[in-house]
Amino acid sequence: MLDQIDKLRQEALAAIAAVEDLKSLEELRVRLTGRKSAMRSLLASIGSLPVEERPEGGKVVGALQKQIESALDDCTERLTQTPETNAGIDVTLPGRRHFEGKLHPLTRLADEVVDILRSIGFVVADGPEIEDEYHNFDALNTPVDHPARDLHDTFYLTDGRLLRTHTSTVQIRVMETTKPPIRVLSQGRCYRRETMDATHHFAFHQIEGLFVDHGVSMADLKGTLTLIGRRLLGDRTRIRIRPHFFPFTEPSVEYDFSCTLCGEDGKASPACRVCKGTGWIEIGGAGMVDPAVFESVGYDPEEYSGFAFGLGVERMAMIRHGIDDVRLFLENDLRFTRQF
Ligand code: PHE
Repeated sequence: MLDQIDKLRQEALAAIAAVEDLKSLEELRVRLTGRKSAMRSLLASIGSLPVEERPEGGKVVGALQKQIESALDDCTERLTQTPETNAGIDVTLPGRRHFEGKLHPLTRLADEVVDILRSIGFVVADGPEIEDEYHNFDALNTPVDHPARDLHDTFYLTDGRLLRTHTSTVQIRVMETTKPPIRVLSQGRCYRRETMDATHHFAFHQIEGLFVDHGVSMADLKGTLTLIGRRLLGDRTRIRIRPHFFPFTEPSVEYDFSCTLCGEDGKASPACRVCKGTGWIEIGGAGMVDPAVFESVGYDPEEYSGFAFGLGVERMAMIRHGIDDVRLFLENDLRFTRQF
């Protein structure tokens, strides 16, 4: 009898689940629970069971009856629910989209550069945005009366600390606590007292690389910068370095990537918004670590050499996406950031 009940239950529930309209549901209800239904005959057969089995038999068949009836009721509800009857909820309206967060375009670009550098053995180092003058200037061979400090005017706290003007501070922090060989990168926000316009902002982002070991040369620097340029902008990207001055590198250079937006091999377009027809895009500063910097962290400049470079994240992102106003990155206007 139990087998019979199980079979009946399965068939009944399957039939109810398959019903698509109210008319066939009514027919099914009669077939499953009506006077001539299998369930009724089961109920009737309880009377012919041996006396001691009757209570148990009644229980099982009763449970089956309940289950089928409530499945039928649920089915009625399912078939009668229309937008109008559904408590004022119009289920035909399109659903509400969940707000999907994404990474900021600057974060995405910085992550990419970090991945490139990590692929050639650089490890990530960190340093504070609130710095002391020593790490931002003095240890980087920029004493208080050095004219280069004027270009890096910044925001000072009342205790004499300042908001760092570049990520080169992390070079010092790493070298103070680590012995060569060193291959580190550092990224983050920097600050300068700038009059804001389309290409200047008081807050911006840099990525710094530092490599110190026996026999590191300018060729290593060029190779590293070329790799970054090619991975970010494509295999045909070329790199150009121009003499420059930084107190903490000697020799110092500024480096450019060839403009991949408007043409190759010097055939730049005068109308190009990014390179302005020069064919080159200025990316950042670099050079061989100045012996005076090695001395300030207790390295022997006769034994070690190294290179360092800084990369402007906003500048790279502007080239990447053809953006002509740096202020857009930090305004947090969703109409801008949602495009990426
Ligand atoms: N710190 C320099 C700047 O912000 C860039 C730089 C980094 C130059 C490393 C040389 C070496 O302008």
